[in-house]
This record gives sequence, C-alpha cells and structure tokens, in this order.
Amino acid sequence: MIDEIEEIVFDEIAIADTVRELGERISRDYEGKELVLICILKGAAIFTTDLARSISSPATLEFIQASSYGLTTSSSGNVIIKKDTETDLQDKHVLLVDTIIDTGKTMECLFKLLSARRPASLNVVVLLDKSCKRQVEVPIAYKGYDLPDKFVVGYGLDYGEHYRNLPYIAALKADG
Ligand code: IMP
Ligand code: MG
Repeated sequence: MIDEIEEIVFDEIAIADTVRELGERISRDYEGKELVLICILKGAAIFTTDLARSISSPATLEFIQASSYGLTTSSSGNVIIKKDTETDLQDKHVLLVDTIIDTGKTMECLFKLLSARRPASLNVVVLLDKSCKRQVEVPIAYKGYDLPDKFVVGYGLDYGEHYRNLPYIAALKADG
C-alpha cells in the first residue's frame, strides 16, 4: 500500500463482487433491450468498463465529460461539458454511469441535458453514494455502496489527477 493512503475502504475483491451484482441486476432489468452506457469521464472510466463486462444485454458505450471540481476536493457546482456524446440518444435506453455521487450537481446537470434528448429511458448507476452530502435530488436506480463524508481515491477516482489507477478504493491521509 502506498504511503499517502490511510486505509483501504473497498478492496479489489469487494469491488468486483459489487460490480458483478450491479451488472446482473441491470441485465435482468434491461432484458430484451439494447442499452447505451454513458461513462462520465474521467472518474467512471474504470467502473464503466468493468460494469459493461458484467452486463449480458447488448450495450453500446458513450463518453461524456463534465468538469466541476478542478484540483480541489469540494464541489463548485459550476458544471461545464468538456466532451459530449456522439450518437443520437432519442428512443434509446440510456444508463448514466459514475463512480461516485456527492452533492449531485454534476449528475443533475447531465441528467437534465440527456433527458432533453428524449431517450426511451434514462437511469443512473453509481458505485458509491455520499448521500449525506447531497444538495440536489437525483434519482439513482442502481448503487453499490453508501459512503460517509470521506474523500476517497482509486478505481478511477482522483486527487489532483493522481491515484486513478489504484485497483482499490482508499481514504487519503489528512496531510496527504
Ligand atoms: P458532485 O457534483 O458533487 O456530485 O461531484 C461528483 C464528482 O465529484 C464525481 O464524479 C467525482 O469526480 C468527484 N468526487 C466527489 N467525491 C469524490 C471523492 O471522494 N473522491 C474523488 N472524487 C470525488
Ligand atoms: Mg476529480
């Protein structure tokens, strides 16, 4: 374990089990339908690719990038679309994928943007939910874990762009 890590919150095995369970639930719910998985860059890159492989229904992949945080650890609420999806989402079954939801501002913004494109359905899947930090209501159809108010890194999540490639989810030391 690297020096700046205080504790591992979810290890590789726990994450893999949870992602598999989420994939199985999604596969059952979308049976007979084709899904569009929209990965929210960069944080959801690793979760999305693992989740995609746990879903047995046919699925296409899209990527969207919004920015609100910069290099700090608190939400600014100013969401900018840096990269948009590329295919027509009208009448498609869309699943918006993020690794973590905190204030909900990023997800609310993307949910509204994508709803306006008239998908047949639009749902949200997150691996981690910091529900105690929520400032805006966002419907979450699938979630892996509830997380207390704690800043975590790894499995796609960064602090100043670092730690995304850790295979586990960990809390940083306060002085890290
Ligand atoms: P929200 O708009 O406050 O819900 O922020 C959501 C985004 O903030 C996520 O997509 C992450 O990129 C980032 N974020 C929120 N909490 C954490 C954390 O604990 N670690 C790393 N990134 C986080
Ligand atoms: Mg970040």
